[in-house]
Amino acid sequence: MLFDVSMQIPAGVVTAFIGPSGCGKSTMLRCLNRLNDRISGFRLEGEILVGQDNPYRPGTDLLSLRRDVGIVFQKPNPFPKSIFENIAIGLRAHYGFKGKELEDRVVDALQEVALWEEVKDSMHKKSGLSLSGGQQQRLCIARMLSVRPKVILMDEPCSALDPISTKSIEQLITKLAGSHTVVIVTHNLQQAQRVSDYTAFFLYGKIEEHGLTHELFANAQSEKTREYIAGAFG
Ligand SMILES: Nc1ncnc2c1ncn2[C@@H]1O[C@H](COP(=O)(O)OP(=O)(O)OP(=O)(O)O)[C@@H](O)[C@H]1O
Ligand SMILES: [Mg+2]
Repeated sequence: MLFDVSMQIPAGVVTAFIGPSGCGKSTMLRCLNRLNDRISGFRLEGEILVGQDNPYRPGTDLLSLRRDVGIVFQKPNPFPKSIFENIAIGLRAHYGFKGKELEDRVVDALQEVALWEEVKDSMHKKSGLSLSGGQQQRLCIARMLSVRPKVILMDEPCSALDPISTKSIEQLITKLAGSHTVVIVTHNLQQAQRVSDYTAFFLYGKIEEHGLTHELFANAQSEKTREYIAGAFG
């Protein structure tokens, strides 16, 4: 449950959502591409705008919304299909690509997430599920990026990954900022400081504090924020 949430998430930079478990970070993130719609009892008051558009406007096409506002989760969720197909499916469905053009787009996406070298010989043969956790997460990010989202949502994308995979995802996030608006939920406060420009601290369903990451970590306005980032709770 979230209350009184009012925030502007700036375009073209990275915003981190931090805060203790159960305080509403994922709920807020999932409101942005309507992933909460099918949860029984879900109710939204007020307005959300993504760019100029209200995703809750009647007649919104959910497939296009989720193409434009892509998401990756804590647990990578590749389709039980070949590495190639994992990416090709969305490219066919949204853009109708086929043949050489489709192949080129898949390769671009795999290169963008630095997975190409590791899978170039096996992408038609091996299942997405046969990859390591870090590779699966990069595949899921490639799948999302291939359809050219404007906004990228990441819900604890590194929490199931080792430090090397985490570093490669963080580098990717830094590269994507500028051309995309990125929102990342993380319990790793160092990660928030490494990758984000702005940070929102969620507490009990409200936004306790929201500001420039370096200011929030160096000089938080709220006592609760200071306690949380000092590790006093959460
Ligand atoms: N599918 C659901 N059905 C009903 N209530 C839910 C559902 N998912 C989350 N909630 C409730 O919404 C509130 C906020 O949960 P949310 O998952 O957004 O927290 P969070 O900040 O992402 O926590 P965490 O850091 O543990 O992921 C909690 O009280 C939770 O019980
Ligand atoms: Mg969550």
